[in-house]
Amino acid sequence: MAAQTDHGVPLSTLSPKFLHSNSTSHTWPFSAIAELIDNAYDPDVSAKQFWIDKTVVKGKECLSFMDNGNGLDHETMHKMLSFGYSDKIAMNGQEPIGIYGNGFKSGSMRLGKDAVVFSKSKRTSCVGMLSQTYLEMIGANQIIVPIVSFEERNTNKYILYLIQ
Ligand SMILES: Nc1ncnc2c1ncn2[C@@H]1O[C@H](COP(=O)(O)OP(=O)(O)OP(=O)(O)O)[C@@H](O)[C@H]1O
Ligand SMILES: [Mg+2]
Repeated sequence: MAAQTDHGVPLSTLSPKFLHSNSTSHTWPFSAIAELIDNAYDPDVSAKQFWIDKTVVKGKECLSFMDNGNGLDHETMHKMLSFGYSDKIAMNGQEPIGIYGNGFKSGSMRLGKDAVVFSKSKRTSCVGMLSQTYLEMIGANQIIVPIVSFEERNTNKYILYLIQ
């Protein structure tokens, strides 16, 4: 049965096919790349440098985007891989470009079928995955986003979170 609220009202869900549909708003790949650059430039991340590279992983061509801005923790990684959550505010007079909470999803899914996000902040390292191939392989009827995060608790001790 579909997920419901405590009052029995059905929750809206998101089909994995939506990942492709949503990406078709980018009529050419450069607007998709621009979404990723905008995110790094926005005041919450405030990256000073941005690197774009192309590599081959297990015979598959793979684009990589890396910035040296502020990283994510488990909760913000979950928001990044979800839809419509954007709470950017102006900082030091810099207005954010992002407002819709959709650019990463539409942009990354325009460039590839699968995205793996690695992030490191002061105390947390996390990896999240938005993957059409994975969702097809497991026959998912909703979008699920596996996230693994390591949080430093005190010296040499880490907590490992596994959310799927
Ligand atoms: N390079 C990055 N480093 C750290 N956090 C990021 C990065 N890219 C995205 N995020 C986080 O993921 C969230 C989702 O990004 P997304 O581009 O989907 O939405 P947005 O930028 O808030 O709005 P818009 O749809 O208008 O671009 C951002 O709000 C930000 O918190
Ligand atoms: Mg954005």
